[in-house]
Amino acid sequence: MANLLKKAYDATWGKYVFAGMYDKFLAKVEGYGLSEKRAEFLKPAYGRTIELGTGTGLNLPHYPDTVDELILTEPYPHMVAKLEEKTRDYPKRVQLVVAGAERLPYPDGYFDTVAAAMILCTVPDPQPALREIERVLKPGGQYLFLEHVRNKDPRVARKQDIIQKGWYWFGNECHCNRPTVQTLQNSSLEIADLQETKMPGAWEFIEAMVIGRAVRPATTTTKPLTVSAASNGHTHADSGCDC
Ligand SMILES: C[S@@+](CC[C@H](N)C(=O)[O-])C[C@H]1O[C@@H](n2cnc3c(N)ncnc32)[C@H](O)[C@@H]1O
Repeated sequence: MANLLKKAYDATWGKYVFAGMYDKFLAKVEGYGLSEKRAEFLKPAYGRTIELGTGTGLNLPHYPDTVDELILTEPYPHMVAKLEEKTRDYPKRVQLVVAGAERLPYPDGYFDTVAAAMILCTVPDPQPALREIERVLKPGGQYLFLEHVRNKDPRVARKQDIIQKGWYWFGNECHCNRPTVQTLQNSSLEIADLQETKMPGAWEFIEAMVIGRAVRPATTTTKPLTVSAASNGHTHADSGCDC
């Protein structure tokens, strides 16, 4: 029964309608300044770059020219369809890959930059995603993040806990109350920059936001690079790295 309900949810609101409406839902906060925050968090991006949970591609206009190669990943086909529309007129060459953050089809130490906006709130468990980010980064490579997080004000955090159940279903399995900063601090990535800010014009319970940069420690050893990504079209990845 629960399985059936989940299937019905995914076939209607959960993935289909949500993907179709996503840009409209965010239009107000993008206009109030989220768009500038996207540009800010992506400013340090360079080299071979992968974005996780790309959604409909709202970060695309903000990648700097220091990015040589851009791979966009997203697990949900309805989102990928929206993303494909946006990449058609995109001036840089990009590759779309259907994959979740927990299993990226790339070898260890493959990327200079991993970027992700508002995905640690939605992935089923942030820890495997962070381990995978560390794995695919070169030693010294950077993870750029923009996340809405648990509010530091206990009064607002309590509200987040109450609202969470309904928000989860409205927001396509998003968690408004995750302590993402602590999760990052407990991971083996090293936080190099952390800016605590607010999502402009957002409701109080999803307002607390962080922008930052975490680095894979340079001392970690990596395997030699033997696998390269497909160069065109979009690739479906349902398995992990096979290197
Ligand atoms: C709140 S949306 C953010 C979309 C986009 N990054 C943005 O900034 O507008 C959360 C995204 O995470 C994606 N997502 C869900 N589960 C995921 C997973 N396991 N790995 C990577 N992305 C995931 C969703 O499909 C959705 O595109």
